[in-house]
Amino acid sequence: MARRARRPLVAGNWKMNGTRSSAREVKALGRLVAKSQTKPSCEIMICPPATLVHHIRDAARGTPVRVGGQDCHFAQGGAHTGDISADMLKDAGARAVIVGHSERRSDHDESDAVVCAKAEAVHACGLTAIVCVGETETQRDDGATLRIVGAQLKGSLPASATAKNTVIAYEPVWAIGTGRTPTNEDVAKVHQHLRRRLVALLGEAEGEGTRVLYGGSVKPGNAVELMGIDNVDGALVGGASLTAKDFFGIIAAYIR
Ligand code: PGA
Repeated sequence: MARRARRPLVAGNWKMNGTRSSAREVKALGRLVAKSQTKPSCEIMICPPATLVHHIRDAARGTPVRVGGQDCHFAQGGAHTGDISADMLKDAGARAVIVGHSERRSDHDESDAVVCAKAEAVHACGLTAIVCVGETETQRDDGATLRIVGAQLKGSLPASATAKNTVIAYEPVWAIGTGRTPTNEDVAKVHQHLRRRLVALLGEAEGEGTRVLYGGSVKPGNAVELMGIDNVDGALVGGASLTAKDFFGIIAAYIR
């Protein structure tokens, strides 16, 4: 079967950073993209804290920058003090929601089953779930990377997953915010494994069509190399997504 083209996605995860004044970075990013002679071939997204989704969506109006959430509850609503539903994020202007980020998995003890239920809730309201997987340093040292990410993928993907409503992000936990990245060979190996697992789980067309992002210390200086690896369909970016200059420097890997 012919391979379905996958449009890359470069998504910024602001984590617990940003205030309303951060809208200026989004506006600056919009200007940088508008000024570029060649338009980026990737989709661009920023996932700010929930308090800013609406504000950043407004700031991004008229630019190709889309907005997403960083997490949601698996229920549509109800007695869950402090939580937020996928529907609420959608109402505020989000197109996608990150689920199962390693910081959620560790800070909030989120299991694959919880992540799976969250992804299903995201799909149920018509948004895209960005499902994160990744091994810890100990697991990597034990040679367990492929087994761990394969199990996380299987356990975190709901039956509702399709190439259209799901994006996978491979983020080695030890590479997040550390400035360290795996070798190109290691990234290629994990992404190829995830691709094979996706085909096994979703079937050929959906598995080949699902985007698999790399995340963990992606910077302007390593983006071209990382984004050039087979089966890497974009990036999930933390620290470097906070300023327009750095984030655009990564998006520039898709301007050529
Ligand atoms: P980083 O974070 O780019 O700062 O390493 C990536 C992430 O956690 O998504």
